[in-house]
Amino acid sequence: MKIVVGCDHGAVELKAEVLKVLAEFKDIETEDVGTFNSESVDYPDIAEKVCGKITTGEADRGIVLCGTGIGISIAANKIKGIRAALCGDVFSARMSREHNDANVLALGGRVTGIGPAGEIVRTWVTTEFSNGERHIRRIEKMMALENK
Ligand code: RB5
Repeated sequence: MKIVVGCDHGAVELKAEVLKVLAEFKDIETEDVGTFNSESVDYPDIAEKVCGKITTGEADRGIVLCGTGIGISIAANKIKGIRAALCGDVFSARMSREHNDANVLALGGRVTGIGPAGEIVRTWVTTEFSNGERHIRRIEKMMALENK
């Protein structure tokens, strides 16, 4: 599985930790699209970079980070085909995969600590979509909203 990772200036340190955690998994390939320093950048640009790799099929999933995770998750969810879940706990991370088939995880670099974020990432990358009939139906309805 290929996971593309990107952040704004509010989460450069947490992005580095996320990449360290992803390196624990031999079957995960990563791509880091930046940003790489504290110079201010606009989180919608980062969301577009990360999600573009998913919608073109270059990557399977993405992890996006900003200060709170809010702006970048909202931006990511504006992109067709993206289901981004802002998670601050392991239970939400698991549910976002099992029930929502989230293809993007959002984290807040100024909100979630390194330890919890690591566990959230481990859970999110190892949890499969449950494939339950009701969840498929809801996801189809959710994605149909893009065309209304
Ligand atoms: C940038 O200062 C900050 O607004 C951004 O990282 C994020 O928290 C937005 O939701």
